[in-house]
Amino acid sequence: MTPDERARVLRAEIARHDHRYYALDDPSITDADYDRLFRELQAIEAEHPELVTPDSPTRRVGGKPLAQFAQVRHDVPMLSIQTETDTGPSGAEQFDARVRRDLELSEGDAPIEYSAELKFDGLAVSLRYENGVFVRGATRGDGLTGEDVTRNLATVRGIPLRLAGDAPPVLEVRGEAYMRRDDLARYNERARSRGEKPLVNPRNGVAGSIRQLDSAIAANRPIRFFAYALGVVEAWTPPATHGELLAALAAFGLPVCEHRAIARGWRDLAAFHDRMGERRASIPFDFDGVVYKVNSLALQERLGFRSREPRWAVAHKYPAEEARTVVVAIDVQIGRTGALTPVTKLRPVFVGGVNVTNATLHNEDEVRRRDVRVDDTVIVRRAGDVIPEVVSVVLDARPMKPSARGLPAREPLHPPFALPETCPQCGSRVVREEGGAIARCSGGLVCPAQVKGALLHFAGRRAMDIEGLGDRRVEQLISSGQVKTPADLYALTVPALAALDRLGEKSAENLVAAIAKSKDTTLARFIFALGIRNVGETTASDLARHFGRFDALMAVDAAALEAVPDVGSVVASSIVDFFAEAHNRKVIERLLEAGVRWPESEGRADAPPGPLAGKALVITGTLPSFSRDQLKALIEAAGGKVCGSVSKKTDYVVAGAEAGTKLEKARELELEVIDEARLLRIIETREGGKS
Ligand code: IVH
Repeated sequence: MTPDERARVLRAEIARHDHRYYALDDPSITDADYDRLFRELQAIEAEHPELVTPDSPTRRVGGKPLAQFAQVRHDVPMLSIQTETDTGPSGAEQFDARVRRDLELSEGDAPIEYSAELKFDGLAVSLRYENGVFVRGATRGDGLTGEDVTRNLATVRGIPLRLAGDAPPVLEVRGEAYMRRDDLARYNERARSRGEKPLVNPRNGVAGSIRQLDSAIAANRPIRFFAYALGVVEAWTPPATHGELLAALAAFGLPVCEHRAIARGWRDLAAFHDRMGERRASIPFDFDGVVYKVNSLALQERLGFRSREPRWAVAHKYPAEEARTVVVAIDVQIGRTGALTPVTKLRPVFVGGVNVTNATLHNEDEVRRRDVRVDDTVIVRRAGDVIPEVVSVVLDARPMKPSARGLPAREPLHPPFALPETCPQCGSRVVREEGGAIARCSGGLVCPAQVKGALLHFAGRRAMDIEGLGDRRVEQLISSGQVKTPADLYALTVPALAALDRLGEKSAENLVAAIAKSKDTTLARFIFALGIRNVGETTASDLARHFGRFDALMAVDAAALEAVPDVGSVVASSIVDFFAEAHNRKVIERLLEAGVRWPESEGRADAPPGPLAGKALVITGTLPSFSRDQLKALIEAAGGKVCGSVSKKTDYVVAGAEAGTKLEKARELELEVIDEARLLRIIETREGGKS
């Protein structure tokens, strides 16, 4: 088979599997096998770029970010739907009565046939296919002009890049981009473990992903699509009814929601509304109502529009998902970043198809504002989010202390809620950022709720740079009880590690070696690695340069910290709070005892000029014992400057293995080329001058 032929086979195979998975919900291969096909195609296309086609599934991984979206005019406008807010059966009855009146039918005439479907709670989009190939995707915008989001929609695997069967020259398909709740939960779990921001709810998640200039980000979001209407069509006669149209779209390979029905008369509609309402919790995506459409396209045409809403369709909503219940307790949860969140424990209540026992209050101010107390009667609402919120307190139902004889004033039985002053998980002090509504546990290095994040950050490439200490390993170390704080890492032994699930002797040795190697670091990296709130990499280096010594930094007060350029009151108090916490100081002490160290000379403000003061250096190739970042830090600590390119002004070129053009250039200019060992000697012996 030629590469061209093989690429064709792979494209067809991948498209078939996408369709089975996303449109039919019936996958027939494993994810691993799918990935293999995908990578094989990517490899062929990388080698033969001329073979890439516009419908290749490799387009689904996203591309370079755009500066802005182009505008797209909808030649057939994207309409809205009239909403029926009467959520009972009479809502369906009224719509049917309107349609019958508009069609001038009398009571004796036959019932009208409708297509009943779900009202998806996502983002409406329009897909344009030319000769069966997906060429453009757009948002609804104001209905007449939307945004060109082709590249983001191309990453949605359920959207076919090529239609199946005999596609017309032009076919625009309208539908909804949406996210399933289970996909969202999985995505959020991964996002949190990587320290990224989770998505608030499915609907925001979809809108944020599709209206995203960087399609590589959209590609990582679990977006799906359902088709439900047509836009511009050329040289194709749609079937006579909406129900058949949906079937035709499905036959083109487009995903169409299975929860749909043909209904005759309003009683059928109301029954569909009821039936789907009962299934809301078990259907894996959100819908806030159902949509009824007159089934006959000929009748739709006769009915026409009123302003921008068709007379032949209506959205029949469900009642707001609210319920009344009683607060049993107000607990405090500690998030991965140490934030304390009050959680109200409720007497179980059925809201929007699920039994609710918890509701968030977001933060303490919110609790105060709503003044939620134990034993209060509250109204809770389930929005798109999985965890419901407390909407209001029914003050009339608040339990009061019995009034003393002759005294009319009665006091509430319970005092207002207040957060604890120490963390319920680790006992560290709870602090509050200036002006911030969020209270946090200051025991960043010891708090069990924060330890995973703290360890991943500590081991990170730009922090202590411990290779092989990823997500899974950290989880194992925590759950086996071997590691409770970063200091415990330095006590790990090969036999103890090798006992972990699926970690062989060799990997255990490597990990222990990597941990040992991390002991030689820089002051800036160490400060950064502690994960002090609001202290990023740049602030950490500024602090290292300014104070020069770690004990000096630990001892300063907020005023001294604010003297550091770019350190304001928020950062200063984060630092003071962090070092004020005895638990953290204990961990730091143990880290230093374990042998974590850095060059003493590092950037001390009042230090004599370093051995490389005023020197310009260029690093090229791979160095034997230091990473580039480490070496750069060493050079800078010695007063030198690291430049990206070689010129006459370069004093030293530090060359490692596989040094390339920079080395050639250095030779050309007859510059001094040194290796890592020589560089270290220069720094240590302060010999400065040329050899
Ligand atoms: S059909 C008839 N069908 O509702 C006009 N729209 O107000 C063409 N929507 O934001 C739309 N589910 O995204 C149609 N099954 C469904 C729908 C649906 C949700 C949304 C649509 C748009 C809004 C129109």
